[in-house]
Amino acid sequence: MSLRAAGLAVAVLAASASAQELPDSQAFLEKHQPPQRVAAGQAAKVKALLAKMTLHEKVGQMTQLTLAAVSDGSNENLKLSPAKLEKAIVDDGVSSLLNVADIAMPASWWRERQKEIQAMVEKTRLKIPVVYGLDSIHGATYVAGATLFPQPLGMAATFNPELLLEGSRITAAETRAAGVAWNFSPVLDVGRQPLWPRLYETFGEDPYVATVMGVAAVRGYEGSDPGTATTVGSSLKHYIGYSFPTNGHDRTPALIPDTLLREIFLPPFAAAVKAGALSVMVNSGDVNGVPGHFNRHLLVDVLRGELGFDGVAVSDWEDIKKAVNIHRAAPDDKEATRIAVLAGIDMSMVPTDTSFATHLEALVKEGAVPMARVDEAVTRILTMKARMGLFDDPLRGTQAPTEVGSAASRAKALEAARQSIVLLKNEGGVLPLSPTAKVLVTGPTADSLMSLNNGWTITWQGDRGELYPRDRKTVLAAIKARVGEANVTYVPGAELEKELDVAAAATAAASADVAIVCLGEKAYAETPGNIDDLALPDAQLALAKAVIAAGKPVVLVLLEGRPRLIRRVVDGAKGVVLGLNPGHEGGQALAEVIYGDVNPSGKLPITYPRFANALLTYDHKAFEDQDTGFGLKAYTPEFAFGHGLSYTTFAYSDLKVTPAATGAPVAVSVTVKNTGARAGAEPVLVYVTDQYASIAPPVKRLRCFARVELKPGESRTLAFTLAKPDLSFVNAAGKTVLEPGAFTVSVAGLKQDFEIRK
Ligand code: BGC
Repeated sequence: MSLRAAGLAVAVLAASASAQELPDSQAFLEKHQPPQRVAAGQAAKVKALLAKMTLHEKVGQMTQLTLAAVSDGSNENLKLSPAKLEKAIVDDGVSSLLNVADIAMPASWWRERQKEIQAMVEKTRLKIPVVYGLDSIHGATYVAGATLFPQPLGMAATFNPELLLEGSRITAAETRAAGVAWNFSPVLDVGRQPLWPRLYETFGEDPYVATVMGVAAVRGYEGSDPGTATTVGSSLKHYIGYSFPTNGHDRTPALIPDTLLREIFLPPFAAAVKAGALSVMVNSGDVNGVPGHFNRHLLVDVLRGELGFDGVAVSDWEDIKKAVNIHRAAPDDKEATRIAVLAGIDMSMVPTDTSFATHLEALVKEGAVPMARVDEAVTRILTMKARMGLFDDPLRGTQAPTEVGSAASRAKALEAARQSIVLLKNEGGVLPLSPTAKVLVTGPTADSLMSLNNGWTITWQGDRGELYPRDRKTVLAAIKARVGEANVTYVPGAELEKELDVAAAATAAASADVAIVCLGEKAYAETPGNIDDLALPDAQLALAKAVIAAGKPVVLVLLEGRPRLIRRVVDGAKGVVLGLNPGHEGGQALAEVIYGDVNPSGKLPITYPRFANALLTYDHKAFEDQDTGFGLKAYTPEFAFGHGLSYTTFAYSDLKVTPAATGAPVAVSVTVKNTGARAGAEPVLVYVTDQYASIAPPVKRLRCFARVELKPGESRTLAFTLAKPDLSFVNAAGKTVLEPGAFTVSVAGLKQDFEIRK
C-alpha cells in the first residue's frame, strides 16, 4: 500500500530515549508490505491440474464439509469414520473440511486427524490435498491449551497494531501446529451496531482502526509466505455489511446506502485484500434486501473489479441453503446454488452433505452454469492451496510443530490484556487502590473465566467453564493473589440475570474500605448472544445500586463484549474499569491495573452509549450534537470513542498545520508530554473535520493514531502528513472526492483550521 494512497504519514521528529518506540498507524501500514504472490511455476501447475479434472472433481473442489459429516461421536470420543471420509474425499472429491465437534482438542490429536485425512487423499486420482479450516478468533480457539489473547475489540482498544501482529503470528503458528492451514479470521465487519452479538469480534466502530488492525491480522497470519510451517491463510469476513443489522440481531437484514458502504464498511476489506489475504467469507445476512451470497454486484463488480481480489470467496455456514429457507430468495436449493455460484461464491460451506456438488454438477450439465465459472472458482481454490504450501507438503506444520501455549506466548497475551484495559472513570483518584485496603469483591463476573474470554474459547460458545484451564486467574483470584486473602471479602451478590445475596453484599460493602463490583456478560457467540435490551440486566444493576448505597467508594469492573448500558449506576461509582474480554490473562491484568502495578492505556474503540435510543457513533453528523429542542440532543455518549484514562497526565501542545501551496498534502505536528509522576502510554488520535461538504459531513474522522510511551516529564513531537485521501469522502455518485474548503485538524483538546483552495 502506498503511503500517500493509504492516508497520513507520521514520523517521530524528536524523541528522547523511551521504553519502546512504536510505529504510528501509517508507518505501520507502510512497513508491512504484502507477501509474494503465487510463483509462475505454481500457476502453471494449477492450470495443468485443472486441465486433468473431471466436472465431478471440480464441483467437489468447491465443496466444504464440517468434521461431524465425516466422523462419529463427539469431543474426546470423536473418531473419523473411514467410510464417511472415503465417500466424501474419494467418491465426492470434497476439497475442504472445517470445525470441531465440539471442544478444542490437543494439537497432537489434530495432527493425527490431518494424517488420516491426507492418507485418504492418497486414494484419489489426482491427490489434491484437503485444506482444513478453523476459527482461530482470539488465539487458536480449537487447539487445546492455545494462547488466548483479548478478543479483537479488546485488541483494538490497545491502538497497537504491532502487538496485534505479534499475537496473530502466535495464533497462526499454534493453528498450523494442528496441521491446519486456513484460519477464518479476521472479522473486518465494522462494529457500529452495539446490540449485535458479534461486536466483540470486530475492531470497533471506526473504519480506519479496522483497516490498520485488519492489515496487522493478515500480515501476522500470513507472514511473508502463507505456506510455511508457522503461517496460515486468512479469511476476511464477513463480506460485507453483516455487522449493521437494523434490529441488532445476528444474521438479520441491513440497510446500507452505497455511500455508507463505501465510506465505512469497504475500506478495511480493501486494505486487507491489498495486504494479501487468501480468502474472504461472505455475509450471512442481507444488505438492502439482497442476501450476501446472492449479491453479484458486491461479490464480483466491487470485490473483484474494484478491490482486485484474486483469492477464494467461501460461503458462510449453510448459507446457500439459508437463502431458501431463511431469506426466501430462491424456491429451492438447486436454484440457490445456481444464483450463488453465478454471484461469485467459489466454495460452499455446505457443510453437512454434498448436495451443493450434486446440484452444481447438474446445473453445469444443463448449461445453467458455464464451465468457465466453475474453472474460475477451482483455479482460485487450487491456487489458495498452493499458496498455503499444501501441494509441497499437505501436512506442513505437523513435523517439529510449534509449542502451543508457550510461556513466551502467554507473556505476550498478558501484555496484550494489560494494554487492552480501559479506565473509563476515576473520580477523586479512587484508583489505583492501596494493597492494604479492605475490599469487597462482588458480582457475577468476579469469579468467571468465561466472562473474561467470551465466545470462541475452547468451544464455539465459550460457555463450558469446566474446560477452562485451572491455572488462570479470575478477577477475584488475581485480587486475592495480589493483596492477600485477608484483605478480600467475596460475596457473589448476583448471577448475571438473577439477584442472589444482594443484601449480604451491601452489608459487606459497609464494612469494607472499597467495593469492587464486577458486572457484565456471559460468554456467547453469534445468534445465541442476541439481546433485546442493551442495558445490563436488572439483577446486576440492583446489586450495584445496593452496594453504592452502602456509602463506600465503588469501583465497577465491566467484563463484556459490547457496551451494556450502566446509566442507572455509573454516577454512583467512583471508578469504572472496562475489560473488553481480555482473555485468559485478563484477570491478572485487571488486578494489576486496579492496584496500579500497570498504568492503564487502553482507549475505547467504540462509543459507549448512555441511552438505549441514542446509539450513535463518534463520526455522527454535526446536527446530532445540537439541541434538537427542549434541551435534548441526539449524541449523548456515556463515554466517547477514544476515551480512556491513565494514572499519569498527558498535555498536548504546539499543534501546527501547514497546507502545501496547492492544498494537500498538509503537514501537521503536535507535541505530547507526560506531565504526571509515572510512566504511561498514550494512544494519540488524530482527527480531521471537513467543515462543509455536499453530503453532510461527520463531525470528525480518525485519520491516524500512534501509541506513544513516555516517562514522567518526557515529551515527543509527532509529525503527520495529511494526504488527499485523508481529506476526501464518498460523494452521492459513489466517488471519493476532495471538495475544497475549510477543514480542521483536532488532536486531544487542540484544534487548528486550514483551507484547501480550488
Ligand atoms: C460463522 C463464521 C464461522 C463459521 C465456521 C459461522 O457460523 O458466521 O464466522 O467462520 O461459522 O465456523
